[in-house]
Amino acid sequence: MALRTQVGIIGAGPAGLLLSHILHLQGIESIVLEKSSRDDVEAIIKAGVLEQGTVDLMIAIGAGERLMKEGMRHEGIILRFSGRDERIDFPALTDGKSVMIYAQHDVIKDLIEARLESGGDIRFEARDVSVYDLDSDAPKIRFRGKEGEVNEISCDFIAGCDGSQGVCRPSIPAGALNVYERLYPFGWFGILCKAPPSSDELIYAMHERGFVLVSTRSPEIQRMYFQCEPTERLDNWSDDRIWAEFRARLQTRDGWAPKEGPIFSKTVIGMRSMVVEPMRYGRLFLAGDSAHVVPPTGAKGLNLAASDAQILARAFAAYYKARRSDLLGQYSATALRRVWKATRFSWWMTSMLHTFPGADVFQRRLQLAELDYVTGSRVACAALAENYVGLPIEQ
Ligand code: PHB
Repeated sequence: MALRTQVGIIGAGPAGLLLSHILHLQGIESIVLEKSSRDDVEAIIKAGVLEQGTVDLMIAIGAGERLMKEGMRHEGIILRFSGRDERIDFPALTDGKSVMIYAQHDVIKDLIEARLESGGDIRFEARDVSVYDLDSDAPKIRFRGKEGEVNEISCDFIAGCDGSQGVCRPSIPAGALNVYERLYPFGWFGILCKAPPSSDELIYAMHERGFVLVSTRSPEIQRMYFQCEPTERLDNWSDDRIWAEFRARLQTRDGWAPKEGPIFSKTVIGMRSMVVEPMRYGRLFLAGDSAHVVPPTGAKGLNLAASDAQILARAFAAYYKARRSDLLGQYSATALRRVWKATRFSWWMTSMLHTFPGADVFQRRLQLAELDYVTGSRVACAALAENYVGLPIEQ
């Protein structure tokens, strides 16, 4: 079937859904193609920290109702090292800003609902998606629909929001993109368990045995991670061994221990940073993980997808409302300024808090000195807080 839309969006993750909904509110049409089913997209377990700006955006586009009811506002984090806890107080250091704990799959559910309620066109289980004529005025997307039929969408623009393993980035000719990448020599072993929260705030713990993060999903479900080998096998880790590892790494001088409960999910997550430049080729614009990947330490992935979507939507609005192409021309540079700052912050948090294989005592002492400095100096604390709650979008 021959279809036509203004902006063809590939990927129903946070970047694609936010973009589609913001465009709709501006009177701009889009079709969203997603290779997975709706159930699968709504079940992907990822991070759960929304920056203030991401919360504000969800509310502004009318998708913030459940988030405001069920999300948990967090006004700080704890840095745990040398057996002591130091709190970073966000509102006091950022003129009142904070973050919201709300799972990414809940953000996705709310956005899909908002899209479908307002007549949005999302095609799940779209197979064999390909993009072409990217450097013409009429780029096209070809895909096989649920029933196996071949469809072609003719668009004014294509937004590649299909993640780091998607088809959009590899469709750009080699040589037109630069890819900058760092691999970290460790991964995260993540669990979900049924237990009450161990702490009112997230704990980022640095320990010689490796980093630990104590996070949460709800009053009943907790999310925790410990640093592991990048190739760690899940079946090496019984529940008892996992809890023993958490207890060993989370110990404080006063004998604190996490609240334990049945573990119902275990995953190993790789850690890397990746940025592609520019985030555009012809009429294909990349947004979210298709253009950049951050390690999870700063919880920036979803938030960067949200800021890309906002910057790109603004550029499309200027094009359709005032026939202005300048913001589209600046999209990549504007988005990359923020992407690189979040990449720096995630790299810095990762480097400060993890145990590096082969690290000597000198390097460890430097890490501890940095933590001592960051938590003891108001300006250093404020820098962490400002990045954690989210930097502004700068043109
Ligand atoms: C999470 O809850 O999954 C989470 C929270 C904070 C992070 C990373 C992941 O920095």
